[in-house]
Amino acid sequence: MTGAHGAARREVLEGVAPAGDGRAVDPALVPDEDAEIDANLRPKRLVEFVGQADLVEHLGIVLQAALGRRQPVDHLLFAGPPGLGKTSLAGIVAAEMGVGLRVTSGPVLSRAGDLAALLTDLQEGDVLFIDEIHRLHRSVEEVLYPAMEDAKIDILIGKGPTARSIRLDLPRFTLIGATTRTGLVAGPLRDRFGFVGRLDLYDATDLEAIVSRSAKILGVRVDAAGARCIAQRSRGTPRVANRLLRRVRDFAEVRGDGTVTATTAELGLDLFGIDVLGLDKVDRAILHALCDRFAGRPVGLTTLSQCVGEEPDTIEDAYEPYLLQQGLIQRTPRGRAPTARAWAHLGVAPPDAALF
Ligand SMILES: Nc1ncnc2c1ncn2[C@@H]1O[C@H](COP(=O)(O)OP(=O)(O)OP(=O)(O)O)[C@@H](O)[C@H]1O
Ligand SMILES: [Mg+2]
Repeated sequence: MTGAHGAARREVLEGVAPAGDGRAVDPALVPDEDAEIDANLRPKRLVEFVGQADLVEHLGIVLQAALGRRQPVDHLLFAGPPGLGKTSLAGIVAAEMGVGLRVTSGPVLSRAGDLAALLTDLQEGDVLFIDEIHRLHRSVEEVLYPAMEDAKIDILIGKGPTARSIRLDLPRFTLIGATTRTGLVAGPLRDRFGFVGRLDLYDATDLEAIVSRSAKILGVRVDAAGARCIAQRSRGTPRVANRLLRRVRDFAEVRGDGTVTATTAELGLDLFGIDVLGLDKVDRAILHALCDRFAGRPVGLTTLSQCVGEEPDTIEDAYEPYLLQQGLIQRTPRGRAPTARAWAHLGVAPPDAALF
């Protein structure tokens, strides 16, 4: 299947921390079964990356120019909701440049020393990928500034009044940051990236292509209408598309002959609680809270999060972008409010029809 890919380069998920040092390993990045499937389905080269046409074109130019000049690529920041391909792009950049990739994340790099250890262990030209870069501790972030700008690092030796700082040269490297929210990346850090790529939710045509590609890799028989149905319910997100494909495959194997048609996909997704718009239980809980419980009045994020039992960050990063894109909710200065489409989708009449 994809075994041929990546054999010649260091893979994502490998070498997260400097040799012999487990501190910077993010448990969330250690492969489990799901992550293994995810890694198989990840596009490995830019041509395999479906959709995001503008971003792919711009990135292609940046990479080609750097290759032509035999220089590492400028530092890159990828921003967008979860599951749209930020981590995949980091792997692609390393593969296209033919360099190694080291992976870590903001919350895991709790001490400046952890980052210093990673940086000094890089090879010339390597990509260092920092996921959730908006969650970097300020003191760690400060180590990054001279590293990004001048490929230098200041190391403090000793303690108290005798402490002194020495400046070390680092190999030239490319920092790739990923964030679900650019607004949370500190200005000075954001300014040090040479290119910011924003990923948008995918349209149904691109998702259909992603479902078909993943089906081929997983060896699942899916006809065009089946792929379209899964795509339409994938909330604009490739990771969701891949997950729904696996659930529909289960359903098709147990209740059918293993082939995914439009009918199997619809029945399967209905069974797993994914509705025609691709909303799951939590999405619907959000809409019910806004429409039923608060009767259309604007609701603050904290209150909403308590109602549906999800973290405010999760609601903001993972649920809201799609609900907003679908025109089901709106953000007002006083909070979140449902739109006429939300009431219609839930099949209930708004309390005061004149308002909607
Ligand atoms: N453009 C694409 N073409 C094909 N598959 C894609 C694409 N983008 C993402 N995927 C699939 O979606 C999965 C999730 O993508 P990825 O892990 O890169 O997202 P992410 O933006 O890093 O998410 P998170 O914010 O949660 O870390 C990948 O394993 C891959 O299979
Ligand atoms: Mg990621």
